[in-house]
Amino acid sequence: MAKVVAISFGRKMSNTDVMLKEVLKKCEEAGHEIQFVRPDDLNIGPCTGCCACVAGVMSGRSNGECVMHKDDDFHIVEDAFYSADALIIGSPVYETSPSGTFKTFCDRIGPSHDLAFLTEAKKERLARDGENALLPDERAFKPRVGCLVAVGGARTENWTIMTIPVMYECMMSTGVDVIDTHVYYGAMNIQHVLGVPEQMERMDKMADHIIAALSAKDEEGRTMWRGETEGACPVCHQSMFRVHEGSDRVECAICGIDGTVGLVDGKIHYSFSPEQQARSRMKYAGKLEHRNEIADGAMTQKKVENLAELKKPYLHIGE
Ligand SMILES: Cc1cc2nc3c(=O)[nH]c(=O)nc-3n(C[C@H](O)[C@H](O)[C@H](O)COP(=O)(O)O)c2cc1C
Repeated sequence: MAKVVAISFGRKMSNTDVMLKEVLKKCEEAGHEIQFVRPDDLNIGPCTGCCACVAGVMSGRSNGECVMHKDDDFHIVEDAFYSADALIIGSPVYETSPSGTFKTFCDRIGPSHDLAFLTEAKKERLARDGENALLPDERAFKPRVGCLVAVGGARTENWTIMTIPVMYECMMSTGVDVIDTHVYYGAMNIQHVLGVPEQMERMDKMADHIIAALSAKDEEGRTMWRGETEGACPVCHQSMFRVHEGSDRVECAICGIDGTVGLVDGKIHYSFSPEQQARSRMKYAGKLEHRNEIADGAMTQKKVENLAELKKPYLHIGE
């Protein structure tokens, strides 16, 4: 038996909530333990940007815990997240993107729970302090699969466009392997998803994907992509790119990897080398690359001389 956790950012018992509960219902019927969490019902403050989590874990001063941890309810979401073998995260579409509270969740679960920051810190501390080392939370290192669900009220998928790509943020740093994503668009207020059988059936399929991943015999089977479309990026299976003007270079917005684009038989063709695919930030090597550039920056960036003096002309502007 494994644990399946759903985290919903939708309105209470509206479309997102019920779609995630449908996945949980099927997973429970298959014998898995389940948990449903609604961060909007909790008291969760936004990240203040202090960076104490990253500075603490890199310097060895702390185990990376957020300084706000004891002051609000984020620990409830963190405990649920860490207890999961499989996660389903759902958000309504607000202004083509996930909700504001979803973004707060990403910022709080991001750097402070980054797999590469924590893994490297653990290695360094064990080498330095042995048994007495102050180690990061061991629950961070458990493998997890994840699914993302976006629910938009507009009649066209076009108005949901940035939602799923942004939702990858909560899976990226934490090292969750995304196996399926789904967008339900046209979810107008008057038409509750319970009256749309094909959407509920799609959630049953998502549950099947989770159940199959949890019973997979090997890592390849556990992490394999089970979504309905392959997408243009072979790593995250989404199709959102930065296009570098004046060249054939494209960059996956989610993975951060470079590829090329061209026309083959009148169709857009993308190509990503195995080396680039290996350095996706959805994989450990990509996270490590970022961890190392941050560590290097912290060592090599110089303090600006006379900063207090330079700030003076700005202090009273707009105050
Ligand atoms: C502030 C706000 C912005 C919204 N922006 C969009 C949008 O850009 N695209 C869209 O498809 N729906 C948009 N919607 C509609 C919601 O996505 C829709 O009501 C959805 O069903 C909410 O999910 P829920 O029923 O699970 O709460 C917006 C709703 C609100 C409140």
